[in-house]
Amino acid sequence: MQGIDPDKVRRVQVREEQVFRQKNTKSLELHTRTMQAMPNGVPNYWISYFPYPHPIFFKEGKGAHIIDVDGNDRLDFCLGGSACLFGYGEPHVVEAVAGQMARGSSPLLATEDAYYVGMGLRRVFGLPYWQVYVSATEANRNAIRLSRMLTRREKILVYSGGYLGAVEDSFAVLDHGRVELEPGVSPNARDISRMSRAVEFNDIEGIRRALADEQVACVIGEPAITNSGIVLPQPDFHQALREITRKTGTLLVLDETQCIGAGYGGYTRSANLEPDMITMGKPMAGGIPVGLVGMSAPVAEQVAKNIFSNPAVDPGMGSTLAGSALQLRAIRAILEHSMTERNYELMLLRADALQAGMERAIKARGLPWTIARLGCRMEVVEGPAAAKSASESANHGGSSPTAACLNIYMLNRGIYLTVFGNTVIASPQVSQADTDLHERVFNEFLNEVT
Ligand SMILES: Cc1ncc(COP(=O)(O)O)c(C=O)c1O
Repeated sequence: MQGIDPDKVRRVQVREEQVFRQKNTKSLELHTRTMQAMPNGVPNYWISYFPYPHPIFFKEGKGAHIIDVDGNDRLDFCLGGSACLFGYGEPHVVEAVAGQMARGSSPLLATEDAYYVGMGLRRVFGLPYWQVYVSATEANRNAIRLSRMLTRREKILVYSGGYLGAVEDSFAVLDHGRVELEPGVSPNARDISRMSRAVEFNDIEGIRRALADEQVACVIGEPAITNSGIVLPQPDFHQALREITRKTGTLLVLDETQCIGAGYGGYTRSANLEPDMITMGKPMAGGIPVGLVGMSAPVAEQVAKNIFSNPAVDPGMGSTLAGSALQLRAIRAILEHSMTERNYELMLLRADALQAGMERAIKARGLPWTIARLGCRMEVVEGPAAAKSASESANHGGSSPTAACLNIYMLNRGIYLTVFGNTVIASPQVSQADTDLHERVFNEFLNEVT
């Protein structure tokens, strides 16, 4: 059995950083210039989190490939954190968006597309009623707000270590049985334990205890954790979760933002789940900012009657650009041309090939590693088994020196992995040549560091 040699990892890391600098001189120049106008020289601080000497500046993308300002062509397994899941520059989305821009983007009036979007979302995800917002973060904030208004309860329950966007109430973790703010998050003058409770994912007894006093408005979380490593639900988890939430009058909100890649109709449809609301955003308008909340019929009925049509209530969740003509046009194009069963077949086929390639390479060297996978996304777990909770998954690499080295190694050889956890997200545009390239470079990396 071979193991990872930390000295080799350090040496490869140093060499690859030099290679990176040689290959990305124009990006460095642009980054240095942008420093004069933006903190960290980037328009969104996330972009400076990448484990490279400096950020890369993007020029254009086509299909599953991107080209940067230095002319480097890279197979993109990050896809803008799945915002461009179905590929860059998709002609039908480009045409739809360009046409709508020319006709008028955001008149604060409904368009005929609202009907087609609502019906399309119902067809794909199963939930019958929908609202449009500007990001998945906003969709989650509003799902929480609606839950509190409908149940007249204050608290929410989240999974410790899960991520639901920039949603303050969700930054709760369990620390030795106490609800604390996630490490590093500023309290922003609020006591998180007053608004939120936290349990480990898959901990049914913990959920039972947290909901027993009927003070919790909603359980909100991903149906499978994707942001703290990939953590799949145990076989009986969702059934028990639904039973407990129903029994305690707690609404169940499933965040499908990343789980959309699990299969056609997201995790909810693939696993036949029955949430009260689902939330999403990212790829649903091909990169145009969007957030969506899907509601069951009983929830939608109460929302319409008690909140949206009640003159005494200010829902406090409007947004000028939400539900714009441009968003609707883009969502419709995605639903009709990108989010198709055929594209899901392709994504899953390519994901099978990527997983098999990595598993072959791991097995050939007898490494005690495994691949965690959810539909079209997967990542290397530097341990023998996938985690059952986010806390457990924190010990499984992802941000280890080996993981950082793998990231830059791949990048220098034309493969762009997601920065958080080296996640590989396969778009339907990935070809067999692409999966072969990935397997070859992954093997070369392991040859160098074992
Ligand atoms: C599961 C999940 N929900 C919500 C969000 C928030 O998405 P956005 O940052 O686009 O608002 C994210 C972002 O990564 C996410 O992973």
